[in-house]
Parts: sequence; structure tokens; C-alpha cells
Amino acid sequence: MSPLIAPSLLSANFLDLASDIKMINGSVADFVHSDVMDGVFVPNISFGLPIIRSVHAIAEKPLDVHLMIFQPERYFEAFKEAGASMLSIHYEACSHLHRNLNAIRNLGMKAGIVLNPHTPVNTLDSIIEEADFVLIMSVNPGFGGQQFIEVTYRKIATLKELIVKRSLPTLIEVDGGVSVNNAFNLVKAGADILVAGNAIFGHENPALIIEQLKNCS
Ligand code: DX5
Ligand code: ZN
Repeated sequence: MSPLIAPSLLSANFLDLASDIKMINGSVADFVHSDVMDGVFVPNISFGLPIIRSVHAIAEKPLDVHLMIFQPERYFEAFKEAGASMLSIHYEACSHLHRNLNAIRNLGMKAGIVLNPHTPVNTLDSIIEEADFVLIMSVNPGFGGQQFIEVTYRKIATLKELIVKRSLPTLIEVDGGVSVNNAFNLVKAGADILVAGNAIFGHENPALIIEQLKNCS
């Protein structure tokens, strides 16, 4: 089955974001992936609510907002109001993940758990039912254009086994170093949603790369 594709705005042209959103609108992409960083949970600061709001005003695809921030619960309502359809929070950034996931769902958004490369998939055993999707980081979060971490394949396959065993509808998203070179193997391992930043926006024909990622399987 074709994966869902989520171009990451982190690698877009911030001086002409509107053009890149229009490119996504006209492409076969399924979501707009937006990375929010606080400079504390990750060693970088990206963009926040005003940008998300502006992107939402012209985006024709649902916004998949990836929060790389501590105490993300402070902002759930604000991101809902700004236009997020999917909101993912890091396992490593929450003391009360169960409560947080339910709060996101209660606001009418799809709730996602993000795992850093060092966090094992079996840690989801008692929480996976509360999430609509799980985002496996295949780089250390904070920057675009990093090298894909190979253990990701095994993590995706282990997660897929758990999902199938429990007959859950949970989707698996993968983020970091995704390209046309590894997309097929990621989908084969069990990935449903591919996030890609540099591979798409670093190419002279981004819509073509989105199409190639979509047709990778
Ligand atoms: C990294 C972000 C990613 C990033 C991926 O912390 O979560 O979404 O934009 O960029 P690439 O695809 O360039 O690795
Ligand atoms: Zn991301």
C-alpha cells in the first residue's frame, strides 16, 4: 500500500513559505508536517503558533504538528485553534503522557506519541491504546538534513508486530533522513506515514520527490 506523505516545513524556504505550501497543495502529499521546537527539549528553535496559523490559512492538507517541547500540555488548545489536525508529543518530554494524549483527543485532534532514537518501542506497552499514531524518530530531533539511523527499521517492525497483535488502528510515522532511497524498506518494515524535509525541499522538483515517495512501494 502507498504510504501517506508529510513534507516537513523545516526545510522549506521561510522567505517564501506560501510558494512551498502551494506546491504541497498541488502535490500528492497527504499532510503538512510542522516542527515546533523550544530550544530546551531539543537544541534548536524553529517556529511557533503564528506561523502554524498562517500556514493553516492557505494549506489544503491537514497539519501534522510535531511538538519538540517540554510540558507540551500548556499549548494543546492553542495548537488546536491554530489549525493542527494531528498533534504529537514526545514520550521523553511528558510526565503524564496518558492524560496528555487524552487531552489532545478530547480537543478533536489525532494524538501521537514520539519516540527518540534511544527510546525502546516496548515502552509503549501500557500506553499505545491512547494514541492514534506513533512517530518513530530516525534521527535525533532538532535539525533537518541529518543521517538516517539504521536501527529504525527494527523499531518499526517491532511496533508493527505489537499493533497487529492487538488489532489496533494505530499508524506508524517515521521522521528523519527519509528519502527515496530508504522509503521502500521503511514501508516494508511497517511505516504508514513518511515525513521528509531535506529530501523534498533540497530537490529542484519537490513535487516529483513527493510523488516518488508516494509510489515507493
Ligand atoms: C527533526 C524534525 C524533522 C525534520 C526532518 O527534528 O522532526 O521533521 O524536518 O528533516 P529531514 O527529512 O531533512 O531529516
Ligand atoms: Zn518532525
